[in-house]
Amino acid sequence: MKAINNPDKGFPRVFVLRWGHRPKRDLRLTTHVALTARALGASGFILSDVKDEKVKDSVEKVVRNWGGPFFFEMGVPWRRVVNEWRKNGGIVVHLTAYGENIETSDVLQRIKSAGKDVLILVGSQKVPGKFFSESVSDFNVAIGNQPHSECASLAVFLDRFFEGRELAKTFDNAKLIIVPQARGKKIITN
Ligand SMILES: C[S@@+](CC[C@H](N)C(=O)[O-])C[C@H]1O[C@@H](n2cnc3c(N)ncnc32)[C@H](O)[C@@H]1O
Repeated sequence: MKAINNPDKGFPRVFVLRWGHRPKRDLRLTTHVALTARALGASGFILSDVKDEKVKDSVEKVVRNWGGPFFFEMGVPWRRVVNEWRKNGGIVVHLTAYGENIETSDVLQRIKSAGKDVLILVGSQKVPGKFFSESVSDFNVAIGNQPHSECASLAVFLDRFFEGRELAKTFDNAKLIIVPQARGKKIITN
């Protein structure tokens, strides 16, 4: 299959903000949220309010080996990120089991028709109640109204937002490139 260089061209830019990371306990899951964001078409990841060098190292190592560009920042207060994002004309989508169902409502259509850059908020532990309010999120979106995982909800949201095209994305300056095979592993090293 021919890879498309930038299949998300023409789509607004998407960043992911991870709130509530608990170092040690959430190391693996937060890293997976960041890697899911990168692999499924987001342009950047912000670990808010807390710094965790291990998450940073893992994400940077993946970007070094498998390509970019991919923005990473940590330790910034979530409020500041949200305020700046909105000041720059972007919208904020909070992923929550309590939100408007992505399948049974027209919420995705409304998000897309805004045509604006999207900051996705995902939690870990229980998020501040303010996340649900108009002062923080433009949309509260549920990937089904059952509680599950930030990683799963992010993946489904990104796939629907980018209409599956993100799965054909290639990355710049990759040292390692997988050549899809029916069986076995084939990797090109640059
Ligand atoms: C494991 S959940 C924990 C939620 C927490 N116990 C609470 O009551 O808010 C962590 C994050 O996953 C995301 N999440 C879980 N289920 C979801 C769903 N059905 N739709 C959208 N996001 C979901 C939300 O971003 C949530 O903050």
